[in-house]
Amino acid sequence: MAASTFARLPGFRDFPPEDLALRSHVFDAWRRVSRRYGFVEYDGPPLETLELYTEKSGDEIVQQLYTFTDKGDRQVALRPEMTPSLARILGDRSRGMSKPIRWFSVPQLFRYERQQRGRLREHFQWNVDIVGEDGIAADAEVLAVAIDGLRELGLGPDAFRARVSDRRLVAAAFVAEGVAPERVPAALAVVDKLEREPRGKSVEGLVREAGMTDGAAASVLDLFTEPGALKQRLGDHEAVAPGLERLEAYVGMLDAMGLGDFVEVDLRIVRGLAYYTGIVFELFDRKHDLRAICGGGRYDRLLELVGGEPLAAVGFGMGDVVLGELLAEEGKLPEYSKSLDYFIVTVSEDQRREALRIAHALREKGKSVAYALREQGLTKQLKAAGREGAREVLIVGPDELAKGCVVAKEMASGREREVALADLT
Ligand code: HAM
Repeated sequence: MAASTFARLPGFRDFPPEDLALRSHVFDAWRRVSRRYGFVEYDGPPLETLELYTEKSGDEIVQQLYTFTDKGDRQVALRPEMTPSLARILGDRSRGMSKPIRWFSVPQLFRYERQQRGRLREHFQWNVDIVGEDGIAADAEVLAVAIDGLRELGLGPDAFRARVSDRRLVAAAFVAEGVAPERVPAALAVVDKLEREPRGKSVEGLVREAGMTDGAAASVLDLFTEPGALKQRLGDHEAVAPGLERLEAYVGMLDAMGLGDFVEVDLRIVRGLAYYTGIVFELFDRKHDLRAICGGGRYDRLLELVGGEPLAAVGFGMGDVVLGELLAEEGKLPEYSKSLDYFIVTVSEDQRREALRIAHALREKGKSVAYALREQGLTKQLKAAGREGAREVLIVGPDELAKGCVVAKEMASGREREVALADLT
């Protein structure tokens, strides 16, 4: 059968050991940092009802769903993100729980995306969320977790930045500039695309979607693209001022944690997902060559929308795909090597029974042990020991066994010594 008969689906990955080692390296860092901040891990099912997403996630994600009708005639979808599942799970049980709830998860997610750099059809995403706290200390806490997740992997302020904004603030600015409140979501969608589209197209978008004149549209865009412009023009506006203060206080908290170098205010960040209600952020590589590494923010209405307690919530998702690209670019990929405590070498097949006994006794003690699974010459066995990354080779021969010992050879130094079997096992 030709090798390509069962080709991997486009956008999906295999994880041979050297790739899985990177994945584990990243997951371990994510889990360590989550626990350092007092978060506990949860998970949910990879398949959910279609409705969970059609109602809450916004058009972009809904168009990318892997969806089908199951044998019980249910409309189902592979989870494209974790946040609706989190809201559903907590909807059932949050009433009895003390707040704030600090939960994290590392689910595999599925989106039928157009293939491009940094975008696959499955990815793993670190989700960290605080539920039941509406103050900005919670917003600052989750962004600090995201930043520390990348720092834990060896990335510094020269490698990435968090760009922060506040969706309510941007919405208030549009209203202050004369946009009708019901047209604000469409105006935010234009802002979301600002970086990816020529400015003229954004102006046209605001004219069409938000009912602004050409001049007003161009001038409102300056508020979001020019640093300090919003404060200068609308700093005293009663609907805008509180948002500006909130954003400053939030950045101040991250600064107090010593993370100020990683944070910059950028009002073009409004996030594509429909459920965000307040402060939002995205993490990008410094060169801005790659897609976003991480995105998140406050979503105070979602739990109520899926039928739970009305609870404030804030969190983020960080994907493993773009992060892997950044780690490679920054030379921070872990070195992959096999390792083994012992490789047992027999001088002849006559010692196999004793070798098996020794191997098993060592494994019982928690050591990692391997040996040739068929008769092989000494040189071949020693080569195999090297390939497997053995720290020590135990040579089991008739003369040593007669004395109740084996020869232990340290692979790095080549040093050999006799070890009594009783001491070894
Ligand atoms: P999101 O912005 O859709 O947010 O995804 C977060 C991150 O997941 C992105 O920045 C990106 O690194 C990664 N990601 C998303 N889609 C793909 C893909 N097709 N291929 C590779 N990586 C991808 C959310 O999903 C929100 N639910 C996050 C959140 C949690 N907000 C609050 N809590």
